Amino acid sequence: MPKSSILRVQVKGDDDYAGLSFGFYNKTCPQLEKIVEDAISSMSKQDPRTPAALLRLLFNDCKVKGCDASILLDVYERSKSEMGSFSNFGIKKRELIGQIKSMVDKICPNQVSCADILVLAAREAVAVSQGPKIRVPLGRRDSSVAYTNYDADFDLPPVDTFIRKSLGFLENLNVGLTIEEQIALLGAHTLGTSHCATIQYRFDAPWIINTDKEFYKKLQKICPKGAASNFNTSLPNDRTPYVFDADIYVESLRGRGLLVTDVDLSDDALTAEIAPKFIFDKDYFFKTFSSAFVKLSTADVLTGNDGEIRRQCDKLNGV
Ligand code: HEM
Repeated sequence: MPKSSILRVQVKGDDDYAGLSFGFYNKTCPQLEKIVEDAISSMSKQDPRTPAALLRLLFNDCKVKGCDASILLDVYERSKSEMGSFSNFGIKKRELIGQIKSMVDKICPNQVSCADILVLAAREAVAVSQGPKIRVPLGRRDSSVAYTNYDADFDLPPVDTFIRKSLGFLENLNVGLTIEEQIALLGAHTLGTSHCATIQYRFDAPWIINTDKEFYKKLQKICPKGAASNFNTSLPNDRTPYVFDADIYVESLRGRGLLVTDVDLSDDALTAEIAPKFIFDKDYFFKTFSSAFVKLSTADVLTGNDGEIRRQCDKLNGV
């Protein structure tokens, strides 16, 4: 059956999330969550860019044919794989999921999918950055096919996506995100950095009204349009790029967002209205982000006998 025609199981109750469950590894790998927690804690201490990288990795995986760890595959040459899409420019730390998988396999061999490890790694990424600790249902299986750069080009939002179109990309995950949840998910940009190569598109977005003039001038200087250095130079997304807080919304409202979608958020009446709610009520932001994260992580998941439990996250079992 082609994957797109698999019937989506509605999220019904506490123990039915698209066929996933909270106690999935209770018997087969009870140590799993602790192993991932410890691994992310030490990997983040070694390199503080880790949490942001893993959170983005999850979104960019889930958006292309579901949360199935297909973004980790190195089956084709890079330019022809998902990673060959410019929408995946700047993606890093994919290898960490394979490293954690090896740690998990030492204790519970061949039980846990790379897809579940990626979801757990991303939720630890949020928690270790002072964000909420999100309870996630498990039981995903890995894709047994690799997708291409064309698939990723089609499914992922381009780097210069304006806000309404970004909401469309979240909407067509088909996981029932509310508008508040969509804006909360975009709040993931509170972590990490963006490269000048992706920031420079905001200079071509004349519809952006709410720009801090000084900030804009500074950006033009650091990220001159078309410069080769733009692929190596990156800037923090907000003033606290290692802390999961609401500062991305504050910066957006001040006209100091980096990416088109972030700065645009405060120009759009619909989204500009929601941002202050998250700024003034951290619990509401965390709660909304958490429910959105769980929904995101159920996108087109493979369960039961579909897909496979990959032995190595970057390779298909049969190859
Ligand atoms: C739907 C519209 C979205 C667009 C157009 C978009 C676009 C981008 C772009 C262009 C970058 C910078 C890449 C670079 O220059 O290195 C970025 C970074 C990032 N994105 Fe998104 N994104 C979107 C949604 C999301 C969502 C829903 C999440 C997570 C739930 C997310 C998480 C991140 C994170 C954490 C970073 C920083 C990565 C790092 O520092 O390594 N994004 N995004």
